[in-house]
Parts: sequence; structure tokens; C-alpha cells
Amino acid sequence: MANGYGRKQVFATNAGKSLAEKVCSLLSIELGQARVGRFNDGEIDVQILQNIRGDDLFIIGDTSAPADNLMELVHLIDAARGSSAGRITAVIPYMGYARSDRKDQPRKAVGIRIAFGFLELVRPDRYILLDIHAEQSLACINNGIPDHLYGSAIGVPHIRSMLQNKTNFVVASPDRGGVPRALKYANLLGQDDVVIFSKERLRPGEIKKSSVRIIGEVAKKTVILVDDMIDSGGTVIADAEAAKKAGAKKVWMFATHGIFSRNALVRIEESAIDRVFVTDSVYHDPITLAEQTQKVEILSCASLLAQAIDRTHEGRSLSELIP
Ligand code: R5P
Repeated sequence: MANGYGRKQVFATNAGKSLAEKVCSLLSIELGQARVGRFNDGEIDVQILQNIRGDDLFIIGDTSAPADNLMELVHLIDAARGSSAGRITAVIPYMGYARSDRKDQPRKAVGIRIAFGFLELVRPDRYILLDIHAEQSLACINNGIPDHLYGSAIGVPHIRSMLQNKTNFVVASPDRGGVPRALKYANLLGQDDVVIFSKERLRPGEIKKSSVRIIGEVAKKTVILVDDMIDSGGTVIADAEAAKKAGAKKVWMFATHGIFSRNALVRIEESAIDRVFVTDSVYHDPITLAEQTQKVEILSCASLLAQAIDRTHEGRSLSELIP
């Protein structure tokens, strides 16, 4: 019995199942048995199908759209609570609703407060999150204890291996807000400055034509854009085009979360970007993905999550997982 709890057990929502299977394989355990189904009218119906009394539960599920993903996670945590689990950790590789993190316009809802408020209703003891859009949103968690992991733990080693000792590159942020993240990546890759792609957004994903301004030098360099997510692809497509016009040799992007809404993958394939790397925090069928683009490579966050789960179970610090 580690840390006063029973066995380490992993359960998953439908959205989290593929990632959870990889995590379980790394942890050498079987994925927990649960029915995450539907009533005939589409309402969610969840039941845990094994004894978990006293166990240390890790429930994996991203909360990307549709809202059913969040709803399934809440149901699974509730089922675990009602089954007398010893401790419950919500493992959320992609926390949806996090871009709605403040009331910056009149009469506007704050999505992340609603999403965490909903999760808090079923009282997870802990959270493990990966690259939430804005870290201050963790303040919406009132009772559970959050641990926050970073995509750079996956992105930086991969970028390093892609660079193969080349030094003629620059790390870039797609907006001013992302500069601290880009600086972190640059520092880890041995550089001390970043390029900024400043732009005017008409609405999320829609960039005002010819509004991209590049602050810094990209000519003849490999430009490595880093961001927390790619949603419609509007940002990366506009930035890649501007970078190439300014003489960049290659443009790559690493984003922790690949949402790829609308026809993002096809648009990325047709764009000026050369390579896109994302993690599997949000599931995409590899065959469908490969049919739409050869430019996108999915890196797995399973090992990072498995290590975080192991350390949490054993009561060890997670700070060694943070680059
Ligand atoms: C914005 O604040 C985010 O960090 C991303 O840059 C944005 O969500 C990307 O969206 P899209 O791919 O639709 O341009």
C-alpha cells in the first residue's frame, strides 16, 4: 500500500481511452473496467465494473469539445467516489474551456470557472493537467490539489533531435502573450531571445489579412513556432506564410494540443508550414489524420503522464518532470 492508498488504477473516458491504454502499458497495469455509455436519448450512463474500494484512482479524460467529454469525466469521478475509491486524481491532458478565462467583455461567461466548478462538484482529490492555456486558471480549483505539467517536456527533446546540432534556428511566439513560453523553449534549446509574430485577430482562428508583423530576424533560418494549441490552424498558417515571405528557410511548429477543428488538417497540408508537432493530449485517428496531411506528427504524452501517475501514487515530487 503506497501512500496510504490501495492499488494504482487507471480509468478513462471514451475520449481518453487510447491515451490511457498507452499509459497503462507503460505502467504495466490493465485499464480499469468501466461502462461509459449512453441512454437511448444520448444522456451519459456510467458504471465502474470492478471493486476499487480504497484504491488510488487516476481517471484520464480530456475536456475538449463536445461538452460530453467533460460530462463523462464528471460521471466517472462521481462513480468512483460512490464506489469508495481511496483517492481520485483527474488526469486531464487537455483542459477545454481554458481560453475563456476572464470577463474581458461585458456580459461574457467565464468558461474555465464553469468547467472547474463542474468538476469540483464531484470532488476529485487531485488533478494532473498538461499545459493549461493560462496557469492562473488553476485558481478556479477550490478543493482538489493541482499538478501542472508542460508540453516542453515532450516538445523540446523532439525539436532538439530534429535540429541535429543545427544552430541556424529561432524560436518564435505566435503572439505577445506567448513570449514567456517561447523564451522557456528558447532557453532550453540554448538561445536567449525569441521572435514575435504580432497580428490582429478578427475572432478566434481568423487573422486579419496581411496583419502579421514579425519582430525579429527570420531570413535564412528555421523558425520554430511554439504554442499551447492549434485549433483551426489559422494562427500557424498565417505565421508560416509571413515567415516564408520574410525569407525563412523552414517553418516548424510545436503545440502541446492539436485540436484541429474545422478542416485544419487539410489547410495545414496546403499551407507554407513545413512540419507540425503536437501531442496526443487530444485523440485523432492516425489513419484519418494521415489521409489529410503528411505534415503533422503526433508525439505521445503517455510517458510523461505515466511518470506523473507513478510519482503521485508513491507520494514523490513531480518537479523533476518539469523542464
Ligand atoms: C491563443 O491564445 C492560443 O494560444 C492559440 O494561438 C490559438 O488558440 C490557436 O488557434 P487557431 O489554430 O484557431 O488559430
